[in-house]
Amino acid sequence: MFARFPSLAWAGLLALGLQATQVAAISKISAVGSKFFTADGDQFFVKGVAYQLTDNDPLVDTAQCKLDAALMKELGANTIRVYHVDPTEDHDGCMSAFESAGIYLFVDLETFDSSISQSNPYWNSTQLKAYEAVLDTFHDYDNLAGVLIGNEVLTMTNGSWAAPYVKAAARDVKAYRDSKGYRKIPVGYAAADIASLRPMLQDYLACSANSSENIDFYSLNAYEWCGDNTYSGSGYSMLQKNATGYSVPIFFSETGCNSAPPRTFQDQNAIFGPEMSDTWSGAIIYEWIEEANKYGLISYGPSLAATAAATATDIVGGFTRRGTPTPISPDFSNLKSVWKTLTPSGVKLSEYTASVSSITPLACPASTSGGWEVDPSSPLPTLDQTATAAGSGSTGTSGSGSGNGSGSGTAGSTGAASTSSGAAAPGARAPMATIFAQGTASAAFVAYSALVGFTGFMAWWL
Ligand SMILES: *[C@@H]1O[C@H](CO)[C@@H](O)[C@H](O)[C@H]1NC(C)=O
Ligand SMILES: *[C@@H]1O[C@H](CO)[C@@H](O)[C@H](O)[C@H]1NC(C)=O
Ligand SMILES: *[C@@H]1O[C@H](CO)[C@@H](O)[C@H](O)[C@H]1NC(C)=O
Ligand SMILES: *[C@@H]1O[C@H](CO)[C@@H](O)[C@H](O)[C@H]1NC(C)=O
Ligand SMILES: *[C@@H]1O[C@H](CO)[C@@H](O)[C@H](O)[C@H]1NC(C)=O
Repeated sequence: MFARFPSLAWAGLLALGLQATQVAAISKISAVGSKFFTADGDQFFVKGVAYQLTDNDPLVDTAQCKLDAALMKELGANTIRVYHVDPTEDHDGCMSAFESAGIYLFVDLETFDSSISQSNPYWNSTQLKAYEAVLDTFHDYDNLAGVLIGNEVLTMTNGSWAAPYVKAAARDVKAYRDSKGYRKIPVGYAAADIASLRPMLQDYLACSANSSENIDFYSLNAYEWCGDNTYSGSGYSMLQKNATGYSVPIFFSETGCNSAPPRTFQDQNAIFGPEMSDTWSGAIIYEWIEEANKYGLISYGPSLAATAAATATDIVGGFTRRGTPTPISPDFSNLKSVWKTLTPSGVKLSEYTASVSSITPLACPASTSGGWEVDPSSPLPTLDQTATAAGSGSTGTSGSGSGNGSGSGTAGSTGAASTSSGAAAPGARAPMATIFAQGTASAAFVAYSALVGFTGFMAWWL
């Protein structure tokens, strides 16, 4: 009688073991030189979709992840990018659903209240702890392709003073990763495509002789190629020129301009083709879910009146946020057909390794008054160091208008003119941005945040 228990347990273990061997483990990604490779020695090209169904962690609903992963596999995607996760939640079900579909993940480490600010840049141990918690939660998943230190921290020419804090964050996250004995999970940054910061930010983040102080990859949110265009007409030839000789992997962390619908994703031909694939490691399409910004590849149901949105569950901003994904036509099938034809094999790690030692960082960009104002010889800020910006003295009281860092003669290079295409990036945190836009315009918000503090507000809002 008692013997039944051990044998049942044994049968259970055996079944688990069989299950484990049936699911072939996904081959882990690492950054070597200026490319990504799988542990099998093949070059890895990102074919991704941005995946953030609501402002909440999208990696906690296993049933939903399974539905989405299956359709992503049909699309030909091998990667998702997630902007916000909650490190206290259980992600096993979703991570395994995506792994089973052959899908990797780039996760942003910033939580809602820990991102680096352009207008008041600093990098402190509270932020580092928040980033570490996300890394602790995700490091052990084989399909974690990489983590992001920030998304579009710098959006204006006069934001260059924030760059050292982004770089310091990468340094500290990498040091933490290594101190914990985690695998060398690539640590990178997702940049806004700002012509006046290009290519200085890109070069700055990877220019140190000491690689512990550099990002492991750089990625760009670029909406330059809209509708029918060409490699040179779109501006991509300039992106390629800027990235030539770059010492770490680079890819598009958002792309898919929608100003000339329907989307045909022609730019993918350039990215994965002979013009760019020797330099770029692929692209993430913005975005999976259809919402008000009309960038969706799928929808979970028709858009609804605001009144319905206010009451029904799983509906935010008039869009259903879970359920069975239905392809948006023809964007979904357009992307699927384009990706199907694009399968660069790249280079084998075994052939590439010998050349890696000859890859050297590009020079740190020179400081220019009214432009890129980061002294290339300045050491990175230490953790918790009080912010001092190049060209603008001490910060501390960062009222807008007190900053003299922009100097004279920069007016033409800020604002809308700063993106080369004129097509505004949608901003992956649109609902959040909306809250801020409304909030900062409202005296009630200012009074309220002064009263309870910003983090209190965030806790309330979440
Ligand atoms: C880091 O900055 C945040 C926001 O200003 C603040 O709440 C937190 O106390 C700071 N942490 C440290 C260790 O200074
Ligand atoms: C490289 O940078 C890391 C992080 O700042 C530092 O701990 C290390 O001492 C540096 N190594 C050298 C050789 O300077
Ligand atoms: C980088 O691209 C810009 C256009 O965005 C161009 O003006 C500049 O010359 C390029 N720089 C390099 C180093 O290729
Ligand atoms: C900015 O700098 C100029 C020139 O040094 C000075 O005249 C002006 O008062 C400064 N403005 C602010 C807001 O500090
Ligand atoms: C940068 O420029 C913008 C718009 O011109 C301004 O609102 C902001 O205060 C400036 N920031 C700094 C740090 O000078």
